[in-house]
Formats: sequence, C-alpha cells, structure tokens
Amino acid sequence: MSTRSPAAHASGVSVSGGAAVLLALVLTALAWCLLVPGLLRAQALPVSEDCVSCHLKLPDARLSQPAESYPNDIHSQIGLGCLSCHGSGGSDVLDPAMGFLHAPERKNIPALCGRCHSDGAFMRQFDPSLRTDQVAEYWTSVHGKLLRSENDTSVATCVDCHPAHDIRAPSDPTSSVYPKNVPQTCGRCHSDPKRMAGRGIPTDQVAKYTSSVHGKLLLEKGDVSAPVCNTCHGNHGAAPPGLSSVRNVCGNCHTVMAENFDQSGHERLFADQDLPGCATCHNHHDIQPASDEMLVSRTETVCRKCHEEADTAGMQFLEIKGVLDSLTHAADSAREVLDHAENLGMEVSTALFELQDVTNAETRSRNAIHTFSAAAVRKEAAPGFEVTSNALTRGDDALAEHTYRREGLAVFTLFVLLLMTGLILKIRAGESEEARDEQHSSS
Ligand code: HEC
Ligand code: HEC
Ligand code: HEC
Ligand code: HEC
Ligand code: HEC
Ligand code: HEC
Ligand code: HEC
Ligand code: HEC
Ligand code: HEC
Repeated sequence: MSTRSPAAHASGVSVSGGAAVLLALVLTALAWCLLVPGLLRAQALPVSEDCVSCHLKLPDARLSQPAESYPNDIHSQIGLGCLSCHGSGGSDVLDPAMGFLHAPERKNIPALCGRCHSDGAFMRQFDPSLRTDQVAEYWTSVHGKLLRSENDTSVATCVDCHPAHDIRAPSDPTSSVYPKNVPQTCGRCHSDPKRMAGRGIPTDQVAKYTSSVHGKLLLEKGDVSAPVCNTCHGNHGAAPPGLSSVRNVCGNCHTVMAENFDQSGHERLFADQDLPGCATCHNHHDIQPASDEMLVSRTETVCRKCHEEADTAGMQFLEIKGVLDSLTHAADSAREVLDHAENLGMEVSTALFELQDVTNAETRSRNAIHTFSAAAVRKEAAPGFEVTSNALTRGDDALAEHTYRREGLAVFTLFVLLLMTGLILKIRAGESEEARDEQHSSS
C-alpha cells in the first residue's frame, strides 16, 4: 500500500500567491482533522466534496479525471464517497497512519474491492441478490493466479474490466461489461500484440469472435442470447473453459446437440483423446454457420482420427449426408411437380401447404446429426419422406387429371367439329336439293 504524508499529498499543487493561502488553509484543515478524526468520520460526504473540488482544478488529467467521471460511477450514485475506497475502511481521515490510500497498488486492488464486495452482510443492505464471490472467483482465474503467484501486474485486475471512477452496473448499456462492450474491454489487452508479447497465446480472439455466428448475432443484430467472452470464460474465473467443460458451456444453450453427443458415447471418447468436444468441429472463437459440407470434411478429418476408412461407423457422417441430400431432393421434386400443376390451374394448395412439414423433419434430422448415427437421422427423416411422397402422388394425380381433362376436351372438340361438319354438309345438301326443286317447279 502506498501512503504519503498529507503534506506531500498536497505539495503537488504549484504554489503561486493565492494557492499558497489555499494551501495553508488546507493544511490547517487537515491538521485539524487529524486532531478530531471522529468529526470527519461523521461528515464523510463533505470530505469527498473537498476531494472533488480540489481535484477538478488539478492540471494533470490523471488527477482530475477521477473527479470528473465519478458522478457517473455507481458507487457515487448510491452515496459512497471517495474515501469509501481511498479511506482505510473506517477512519475517513487523510492520515497515512490511519490508512489513507493513494492510488492503490495493482496487486492490492482485489482486496480493496473485496472489503465490501466479499462482505455479504454489508452488501445485502444494498442489493440482497448481488453475488459476493467476485474476489474469490477472481483468485481462481488465470488473471488472479498470475497476479498472486507471479506478481504479474499486467494481467487484468478489477479496474481493468470495471474502470475505477466510472464503474457501472452490467445492465447499463454504457458499462464496460455490458455484453456488447465486453469484446472491446477484453480486447484492450488480448488484441494487443505488444501487451501479450512473450506469452505464447494468440491475439486473434476478438477478431475471430467478431466474425463468428455468435459475434454477428450480438454485435450486428444486438441479440443478447448469443454468448460473449465472459459467457464462456466466466465473469471472474477467466480461464480457458477446459476440455471437459467446453461441452457444458456450449450445451447450456445448444442442449439437444450436447445431449446427443453425450449419448453417442463420443463425448467421453473425445475427452480421452484430448479432443475439445464441440470445438473439434466448430472451433471456439470463429464458429461459423453449420452446413452439410461439414459432414464430408469432418468424416475426413475427425472421424478418421479414430475410425478406419473401411469401418462403417466412421462412414456414418457420409451416410447422414446421403440421407439429408435425398430428403432435400425428394422435397424439391415434389415441389416442382406441385408448382407445375398449380401453374396449369390445378387445385393443389392443400398439398403445397402439407409439403411445408418437410422442414420440420429436416430440422429434426439435422438435430440428430450429433448422435453420429445414420440410423437415428434416417428415423427423424422418415416422416419427411412420407410427406414428400404424398405430395408427389398428389402432384402426379393433378397432372394426370389435367391430361385426362385435356384429352377429354380434345375428344369433345373433335366430336363437336364432326357434328358441326355433318350439320353443315346436311344443311348444304338440303339447300341444293331445295334449289333443284325450285328449278324443277319453275321449268
Ligand atoms: C487541496 C487539494 C486536494 C484535496 C482537498 C485532495 N487532494 Fe488528492 N491530490 C492533490 C494533489 C495536488 C495530488 C498530487 C500530489 C500527490 O500525489 O501528492 C493529489 C493526489 C491524490 C491521489 C493520487 C496519489 C498518487 O498515488 O499518485 C489520490 C488517490 C488522491 N489525491 C485522493 C484524494 C482524496 C480521496 C481526497 C479527499 C479525501 C483528496 N485527494 C483531497 C490535491 C488534493
Ligand atoms: C470504488 C473505489 C474507488 C472510489 C470510490 C474512488 N477511487 Fe480513486 N482509485 C481507485 C482505484 C482502484 C485506483 C487505482 C486505479 C488504477 O490503478 O488504475 C484509484 C486511483 C485514483 C487516483 C490516481 C489516478 C491514477 O491514474 O493514478 C486518483 C487521483 C483518485 N483515485 C482520486 C479519487 C477521487 C477524487 C475520488 C472521489 C471523487 C475517488 N478516487 C474515488 C478506487 C476508487
Ligand atoms: C465501500 C464499499 C465498496 C467498495 C470498496 C467497492 N464497492 Fe462496488 N459496490 C458497492 C455497493 C454498495 C454497490 C451497489 C450494489 C447495488 O446496489 O447494486 C456496488 C456496486 C458495484 C458494481 C455494480 C454491481 C451491480 O450489478 O449493480 C460493480 C461492478 C462494482 N461495485 C465494482 C467494484 C469494484 C471493481 C471495486 C474496487 C475498485 C468496488 N466495487 C469497490 C460497494 C463497494
Ligand atoms: C476480466 C474482466 C473482469 C475482471 C478482472 C473483474 N470483473 Fe467483475 N465483471 C466482469 C463482467 C464481464 C461482469 C458482468 C457480468 C454480467 O454480465 O452480469 C462483471 C460483473 C461484476 C459485478 C456485478 C455482479 C456480478 O457478479 O455479476 C461486480 C460486483 C464485479 N464484477 C466486481 C468485480 C471485482 C470486485 C473484481 C476484482 C476482484 C472484478 N469484478 C474483476 C468482468 C470482470
Ligand atoms: C489488463 C489486460 C487484460 C484484460 C483487460 C483482460 N485480460 Fe485476460 N489475460 C491477460 C494476461 C496478461 C493474461 C496472461 C496470459 C498468460 O501469460 O498466459 C491473460 C489470460 C487470460 C486467459 C487465459 C489464457 C491462457 O490460456 O493462459 C483467458 C481465458 C483470458 N485472459 C480471458 C479474458 C477475458 C474473457 C477478458 C475480458 C472479460 C480478459 N481476459 C481481459 C490480460 C488481460
Ligand atoms: C463460445 C465460447 C467462447 C467465447 C464466446 C469466447 N471464448 Fe475464448 N475460448 C473458448 C474456448 C473453448 C477456449 C479454449 C480452447 C482450447 O483449450 O483449445 C478459449 C480460449 C481462449 C483464450 C486462450 C488463448 C486461445 O486463444 O486459445 C483466450 C485468451 C480467450 N479464449 C479469450 C476470449 C475473448 C477475449 C473472447 C471474447 C472476444 C472469447 N475468448 C470468447 C471459448 C470461448
Ligand atoms: C449463450 C448461449 C450460447 C452459447 C453458450 C453457445 N451458443 Fe452457439 N449459438 C447461440 C445462438 C443464440 C445461436 C444462433 C441461433 C441458432 O442458430 O441456434 C448460435 C449459433 C451457433 C451455431 C450456428 C448454427 C447454425 O444454424 O448455423 C453453431 C455451430 C454454434 N452456435 C456452436 C456453438 C458452440 C460450439 C458453442 C460452444 C463453444 C456455442 N455455440 C455456445 C447461443 C449460444
Ligand atoms: C464430429 C463433429 C462435430 C462435433 C463434435 C459437434 N458437431 Fe455440431 N455439427 C456438426 C456438423 C457436421 C453439423 C452440420 C449440420 C448440417 O448439416 O447443417 C453441425 C451442426 C451444429 C449446429 C447447427 C445445427 C443446425 O440445426 O443447423 C449446432 C448449433 C451445433 N452443431 C452445435 C454443436 C455442439 C453444441 C456440439 C458439442 C456438444 C457439437 N456441435 C459437436 C459436427 C459436429
Ligand atoms: C476419439 C476417437 C473417435 C472419434 C474422433 C470418432 N469415434 Fe466413433 N467411436 C470411437 C470408439 C472408440 C467407438 C467404439 C465405442 C464403444 O464401443 O464404446 C466408436 C463408435 C462409433 C459408432 C458406433 C459403432 C457401433 O458399432 O456401435 C459410431 C456410429 C461412430 N463411432 C461414428 C463416428 C463418427 C460418425 C465419427 C466422426 C464424426 C466418429 N465416430 C469419430 C471413437 C471415435
């Protein structure tokens, strides 16, 4: 803890004429406060106002910034003054002997915040639902461990993620830990090759995350159901999720995939081989939209890790692709036939409507992919094949009906034509007979 005497503390003000008077006044005030510590304790707020009004005037931004931003800080808004952190935690006096904290050393910051945040009884007075395990969790993180055991002060401490004097609740959209702002908060270090030099970890997490399905969902569409850095790494336990827990992390949201993956037995088999579950096929930071092409590429790269080419088990992904392809193909053909019939003016709207059910079967069979079993996928696809085959029958019937009607119309037209020709011939024949009769009678 760095402590200085009150005299040294104030001596940084450039001493001009007026300031000298001010300085004298302040020193007197401070000396007075030393004599009557209880008085200041009773008047904690006025002291903070003093800190603020003097600090606002200091030319060094490092010293004035805290006073400027503090009004927006949640601690200020609930009525806590500067000394709630810079005091010793009881005697609010600018006396080093009483524990006045200047800027706390980085390695002491968790303990400073923990004075309140690890004190359940104290915190309950403000918000009974607020957790009080942040400091304990922090010490289990890679950040906390390196700080404690290696005295590595370039890791994140509390104030790197919650900037001192501008700390806001996570639900505040302007907070550094509001989901949309988290990648930037972590990226300040993790995207900076200079800061991360010599540590042997990449600096591409934020860039990859930003272009992932999850990143686009959160950052472009503002959908907070997508995970962000701390969803997977923990708010305070920042660590790689670890091989076994990756599945749990992803499985919190993608429950069906995770359950199927478990039940296939491969969850355990992957872990035994140090393959990181879901991330083996989807990666972790640059997760891209899923596609059927993955079934082919993962057969080559993932299944072949353990299964032989000739082994039918390892070929299941290719077989699954076959099932999905033929379902898509069947649906396309049925739709084509029905569309054709509709264009010809046949009534097929019910059949077209029923064909929409095939998307349900497609979704369900895609959900079954993570069983790794073609039989399971085929089972889910079966109702889809039924729908498409019904639709195809209906379409074919409609087309046949159309042909039948067209042929019927042709026969009918021919019949009418013949009839008319017959009639015309008959009329003509009648007319010439009449003419002949007239000639007869006139001659
Ligand atoms: C009369 C003006 C004045 C008042 C009142 C004042 N300060 Fe300061 N403070 C300074 C000056 C000048 C410095 C820089 C010189 C130094 O570090 O000693 C400083 C430095 C600091 C620092 C940083 C020291 C470091 O480690 O670099 C902290 C923290 C601080 N003050 C907190 C407070 C708090 C909290 C209060 C109210 C209880 C307060 N100050 C009241 C003038 C003041
Ligand atoms: C919630 C705790 C908390 C409160 C309240 C608080 N500070 Fe601080 N302050 C800190 C911490 C932690 C640091 C060290 C920051 C760091 O290392 O980045 C600090 C650092 C400082 C510094 C040194 C800045 C620097 O960059 O070296 C000054 C000056 C300061 N505080 C003044 C104030 C003043 C004035 C107030 C009241 C308006 C105040 N603080 C309220 C926690 C607090
Ligand atoms: C003097 C006690 C005290 C100290 C020291 C303190 N806090 Fe707080 N903090 C509180 C209280 C009280 C709240 C308000 C809880 C509420 O009502 O939501 C709070 C709120 C917060 C919140 C917002 C929580 C939320 O969900 O609303 C964060 C983040 C936070 N503090 C971080 C810190 C950090 C980081 C430090 C150390 C630099 C620190 N605090 C030091 C008492 C303290
Ligand atoms: C690596 C970044 C990081 C560090 C370091 C960090 N926090 Fe947090 N903290 C977060 C994030 C992210 C959240 C927001 C969680 C959310 O969305 O609810 C958070 C939330 C909080 C909250 C709100 C309540 C809660 O638990 O969700 C408090 C209080 C808090 N942090 C205190 C601390 C304290 C005290 C320390 C130091 C021991 C600390 N934090 C260190 C990232 C960090
Ligand atoms: C102040 C800089 C800083 C900030 C901000 C920061 N980190 Fe870190 N982080 C580090 C450093 C330094 C390490 C140590 C790397 C090493 O030596 O292994 C580290 C380590 C990690 C590790 C362990 C990496 C490994 O495999 O060893 C994870 C995971 C991590 N940080 C996640 C986060 C997340 C998530 C956030 C934001 C919520 C964050 N960090 C914010 C500096 C930071
Ligand atoms: C969907 C979950 C998920 C999200 C979101 C996520 N990570 Fe990770 N992260 C992981 C997994 C899983 C690993 C471990 C990979 C391994 O062990 O091979 C990891 C590893 C890391 C590491 C260790 C070094 C490395 O690259 O392997 C760091 C640092 C890290 N993540 C930081 C971040 C940051 C910063 C963000 C936000 C931009 C973030 N992570 C978002 C799951 C996630
Ligand atoms: C906080 C919840 C959450 C977590 C944790 C999560 N995701 Fe997601 N993920 C989503 C949401 C929401 C979507 C977009 C909607 C959808 O397609 O399901 C998505 C989309 C995806 C997609 C693209 C789906 C598609 O339709 O193309 C894949 C692949 C994916 N996630 C894999 C993972 C993996 C692997 C992990 C773990 C490393 C993971 N997710 C962790 C919520 C989460
Ligand atoms: C062996 C490779 C592999 C593993 C391991 C794996 N997946 Fe998949 N995943 C795939 C393939 C292939 C698809 C593509 C489905 C398709 O054809 O659209 C997929 C699709 C997805 C989708 C999109 C589903 C949809 O409806 O489009 C999500 C979400 C997903 N996986 C999550 C996970 C989760 C969570 C885990 C871990 C529990 C996991 N995956 C493990 C290969 C894998
Ligand atoms: C980490 C090694 C490993 C990988 C990678 C792997 N498997 Fe397996 N798989 C096994 C082992 C070992 C068994 C035998 C399991 C048992 O009997 O418990 C097995 C069994 C199976 C079975 C059941 C066979 C039966 O006769 O019951 C199927 C199906 C299967 N795997 C498909 C796949 C597919 C598809 C992939 C690629 C997505 C894959 N596996 C990737 C190790 C692996």
